[in-house]
Amino acid sequence: MKAELYGSLIEYGKSGVYPFHMPGHKRQSARFSMADPYSFDLTEIDGFDNLHEAGGLIEGVQEKARRLYEAEESHLLVNGSTGGILAAVSAAFRPKDRVLVARNCHKSVYHALELNDLRPVYIWPDRDDRDGFFLDIKPERVARALERWPDIKGMILTSPTYEGVVSDIGKIGKQIHDHGGVCIVDEAHGAHLGLHPYFPASAVSGGADVVIQSLHKTMPALTQTGLLHVRGDRIDRVRLRRMLAVYQTSSPSYVLMASADQCLSWALDKGGEAFALYAERLDGLRKTLRGLSHIRLSEIPGADPSKLVLSAEETDMSGKCFYDRLRLAYGLQMEMVCGNYVLAMTSPADTDEGFARLIVALKAIDGECKAVGAQGGRAPEHEGSFTCPELTPGEASGKPARKRRLSEAVGYLAGDYIYQYPPGIPLLVPGEKIDRALRGRSKRSGSARQPHCL
Ligand SMILES: Cc1ncc(COP(=O)(O)O)c(C=O)c1O
Repeated sequence: MKAELYGSLIEYGKSGVYPFHMPGHKRQSARFSMADPYSFDLTEIDGFDNLHEAGGLIEGVQEKARRLYEAEESHLLVNGSTGGILAAVSAAFRPKDRVLVARNCHKSVYHALELNDLRPVYIWPDRDDRDGFFLDIKPERVARALERWPDIKGMILTSPTYEGVVSDIGKIGKQIHDHGGVCIVDEAHGAHLGLHPYFPASAVSGGADVVIQSLHKTMPALTQTGLLHVRGDRIDRVRLRRMLAVYQTSSPSYVLMASADQCLSWALDKGGEAFALYAERLDGLRKTLRGLSHIRLSEIPGADPSKLVLSAEETDMSGKCFYDRLRLAYGLQMEMVCGNYVLAMTSPADTDEGFARLIVALKAIDGECKAVGAQGGRAPEHEGSFTCPELTPGEASGKPARKRRLSEAVGYLAGDYIYQYPPGIPLLVPGEKIDRALRGRSKRSGSARQPHCL
């Protein structure tokens, strides 16, 4: 029988399609090569340490991570940020705890709420009024939530977001600490933060208690590699290690751990030079893209410049058409299309050729489309607000539910998730009341799923 997935991946690798998506090594196999994986794929034999009780070679890798990110303790993750988020939330909180959760969190955060029977207060960030993506979490809003729900035990938020929006972790972390809580930051998209001044600082230096990063998203490392960093004593580190052992496999891949090791060594030895070059090229690329006539490079102050949010909002071209054109006519695969914009992810592994191809394609497409004037002005759905679901995700997820058409579902409680993937932020979480805004959100995201209602 043919190994069709393997064969298709090999064929795709030869196709010449350029990746403006994860993983961050950008398939640069000449630059970030490894020996044949079969030749060093081991298990915990003598001399090769144990991820769950690291005290040798693996401890050495974690020590490199700790040094690079200036953490107090760092752990390797082999099933991405997902495992780290599940472990951190499980270690930080107890069943029924009230937790402040940014409602633009990745699905793994909601799964953690569900598994630990936590009571979330959702805090909604504003949306960019032109392109509709979520903006930062405002400290003033956090202050209001802490005042209104004094029993909040901590906060979980995503920074940077998929689109690169960064929240003020310094201020938010302090607010949460002054309140006696724990601040967990999902920095899955920010393993490159703090490694060069062109990029924003990492939440590790910003005062968060636990920071979770996916190495594979923005750094040259294999998919599923990640890191969890700890600072301070607000989280019980013994319990955290226990939870990491619960949520991570008992057979961590030595191929993945070796990839993380290579990536960290590369960052420590050659990162300074590589990131300086990357910053210079990225800055040049962004300057050129600002000169396009119709396609707009979205620029949010303080955001991570590695993410290129390219909007067709003021053109006669839909976001999907833009995305397809880049892929089919120019062989450029974007990370995602959402509404009127496409997202190109860059990394230090990008090549001059890749950036040049993007410029050629965007100039050509820009010349083909017509201006139609700004269509923004999207009504903010939950501006200034918090939502407390009628049932917690844990209470709602086990209950019998019935599928209903979107138009008939308004007013019911959700029994299941509806995701938009990417970016993996649920449009609907179990226990939330289904409102009219969901219709608009589903339409915009292209999700036509019918909700399960309680
Ligand atoms: C914001 C955010 N957090 C967490 C994750 C999960 O990361 P991983 O795929 O490394 O498990 C993702 C994945 O896309 C994400 O976008």
